[in-house]
Amino acid sequence: MSRAPSSTLTVRQVRHLGGEITVPGDKSLSHRAVLFAALADGTTEITGFLPGEDCICTMRALQAMGCVIEVESKTKLVVHGINGKLLAPLEPLDCGNSGTAMRLLAGILAAQPFKSRLIGDASLSGRPMKRIVDPLIQMGAKIHGQGDKHTAPLEIEGGALKGIEYTLPVASAQLKSCLLLAGLFAQGTTSITEKIPSRDHTERLLAHFHAPPVINLDPDGKGKTVRVRGGSRLHANDFNVPGDFSSAAFWIAAAAALPGADLTITHLGMNGTRTGLLSVLLRMGAQIYESISDSACEPAGTLRVHGRHLRGTKINGAEIANVIDELPIIAVVAAIAEGDTEIRDAQELRVKETDRIAAMAGNLRQFGVTVTEHDDGMTIHGGARLTGAKVKSFGDHRIAMACAVLGLFSKGETTIEDTGCIATSYPTFQEDLHKIAYFKDSGLASLLGSR
Ligand code: S3P
Repeated sequence: MSRAPSSTLTVRQVRHLGGEITVPGDKSLSHRAVLFAALADGTTEITGFLPGEDCICTMRALQAMGCVIEVESKTKLVVHGINGKLLAPLEPLDCGNSGTAMRLLAGILAAQPFKSRLIGDASLSGRPMKRIVDPLIQMGAKIHGQGDKHTAPLEIEGGALKGIEYTLPVASAQLKSCLLLAGLFAQGTTSITEKIPSRDHTERLLAHFHAPPVINLDPDGKGKTVRVRGGSRLHANDFNVPGDFSSAAFWIAAAAALPGADLTITHLGMNGTRTGLLSVLLRMGAQIYESISDSACEPAGTLRVHGRHLRGTKINGAEIANVIDELPIIAVVAAIAEGDTEIRDAQELRVKETDRIAAMAGNLRQFGVTVTEHDDGMTIHGGARLTGAKVKSFGDHRIAMACAVLGLFSKGETTIEDTGCIATSYPTFQEDLHKIAYFKDSGLASLLGSR
């Protein structure tokens, strides 16, 4: 997918953060909602869809395989399901920057009676696909990527699959979802065990589309096994996508770390496999109130955050999967907080849209923060005097947004280069920043006076 010409984002130190906002729809749920609605029989209306580049890639891939999707507005889709009968695409399917699009589509395509090719941008073409290729081959798929890591482009010669029993070697919802989707088309039952819980949107949406998986919790209460029966049919069911917790995370973290801030976020996705950031911030001394108002399919609700001085913490083990997309902004909060914050067991960060450990460690240093990099994480020595910096996004939306937030806490001006990538997940990031941030000399800030 082609992207708007690369741009830069400049931010200044903020005086106050406050007000009420709703963030755009959840990225993980938007991908899944449009995928499942396309595979279902009947017509599904999706509201709150995230019009980010990543989800648009998934939508276009489905249209290229014969699914009629009416785009009623940027956030409202009417999907005419094709009852599992996709047509062979005439061109390679372009997943852009999106690992979710590529891994979930690969699971479906491995079982279709046609050949397909999945391509992506330079970042996605460097990300490991062996983790999906190996188990799909065990299911009988003919799929291969480039080199040892089976990177994209992925060549798929779809055909009959058989169910397998598989334990995930890495906590990954994309891998789990890829195999569950392949399992829907396979002969027999596909049984996926995860020792560390990853986000459970696929399980919830399968149930929403009337094909509930069977879920057994491990006796230790931590892991679980999810089973889908081959040949299960999905049926249309309208779906409203709540706000993306991972997008709200930038504002939650910023407000929590700025004394005096008072921010409310409404209609926010509050799925417990995604909200680990709240536990991290509470350990750091944050003041956050949550109320969950809607638990149909996906919990959603309102968060109110009051700013305080925060202190460092440790994040490791099973908590990592729950905060995997929030670690860049957690690193920013750690820089603002007093004391050390140690992030461990986060080697997955090295294979995200960029190597997020190297990118964040390097960028934090530009702001004057001392960081010790580990193979599987980093220790951030918080409380340093922060000065505005000129940093790169490395083409990674979450690095760009995390560094913009750090700029709000840094003296002088901060410029982030190559911020076109923000449109993959949060196209209205800058607009929302201006809704809640009060800069020096702006109305509310002058009322409060400078600190
Ligand atoms: C996602 C799962 C996570 C996450 C990504 C979205 C999903 O990736 O980092 O942004 O929608 O399933 P992994 O499953 O690879 O950890």
